[in-house]
Amino acid sequence: MSEFKPLVFSGVQPTGNLHLGNYLGAIKKFVALQAKNDCIYCVVDLHALTAQLVHEDMPNQIRSITAAFLASGIDPKAHIVFNQSAVPQHAELAWIFNCVARIGWMERMTQFKDKAGGKNAEQVSLGLLAYPSLMAADILVYRATHVPVGDDQKQHLELTRDIAMKFNLDFASQIRETGAGIDIKVGDQPVHAYFPMVEPLIDGPAPRVMSLRDGTKKMSKSDASDLSRINLMDDAETISKKIKKAKTDPDALPSETEGLKGRPEADNLVGIFAALSDKSKADVLKDFGGQQFSVFKPALVDLAVETLAPVNGEMRRLMGDPGYIDTVLRDGGARARARAEKTMKEVRDIIGFVQ
Ligand code: TYM
Repeated sequence: MSEFKPLVFSGVQPTGNLHLGNYLGAIKKFVALQAKNDCIYCVVDLHALTAQLVHEDMPNQIRSITAAFLASGIDPKAHIVFNQSAVPQHAELAWIFNCVARIGWMERMTQFKDKAGGKNAEQVSLGLLAYPSLMAADILVYRATHVPVGDDQKQHLELTRDIAMKFNLDFASQIRETGAGIDIKVGDQPVHAYFPMVEPLIDGPAPRVMSLRDGTKKMSKSDASDLSRINLMDDAETISKKIKKAKTDPDALPSETEGLKGRPEADNLVGIFAALSDKSKADVLKDFGGQQFSVFKPALVDLAVETLAPVNGEMRRLMGDPGYIDTVLRDGGARARARAEKTMKEVRDIIGFVQ
């Protein structure tokens, strides 16, 4: 029994401002994973077309996500940073996966149901339905094994495993004939696989950062109220105002995590504090248990400003040098293309396309 070579892949859409949820749920983890892994981080511009076709400022949106990656500490030389459209193999594999996956699998995705719900089929694009198939292709075109994401992407990654498994089983004999697969175990089951079963990396104290206005709703780019989120480009004064106005309940913080149950806003702010300071929620409560929000909130403001100000400053500096960002993307794109083409050659062989 062998194993796939560990490889980390993740992506962020160039749609609207990045917020603290994107930072704590994804980008901060991308940075930490670099020390011990080979990593590929992608600005998924093809995905941005699924919900809205025309983006007035697409080039700068792509550059701003890239700037956030670099400003947060991603090293584009040791790893790969690129934009998805620069590697057409993603779209090629996505087409094949469209023919592997079943429509019912796509229709069951909660994100699809949330976005398409209430509207008739004429109003959502076919791309929005097929979105998870492209996401599976993003990951599997590199045969990546580990995917750091926020909790909202969990279902998409389960679907990625389903697609990989079905491809492995449907093409089992061709995979053997080409010699491109390896023997792995899925649970107790031995499988001769071409694509790995990806592992989501969703751990940490803030896998789902919630709105500052409503602890039961996810912090999101699309929330009408800017007070609901902290944007990576917010200045210190704005961050302070948003945290001070954040919804809370009247009680003091508990001393144990158990006491956060049924207190979504308190749970969220403690989770944010923990993720920003690389501590567990239990450790944060050791320091703040019994304290009122009037004490906790200013400490959270200081921590958030101290952590985000350098990222914010470096992002602004990088956005002033678009030429440099484009060089990073071009270089990453070329290296990603070479790796993706290696996979696609084998996939075309497995399917039986003459090449
Ligand atoms: P996107 O662009 O919506 O979000 C980027 C990352 O941020 C995480 N995230 C959150 N984490 C915690 N709390 C929140 N409130 C929050 N909001 C967003 C997301 O989970 C994500 O990790 N489909 C993906 C992009 C994608 C991708 C991929 C990811 C395309 N292909 C392949 C991984 C692998 C998306 O729309 O993320």
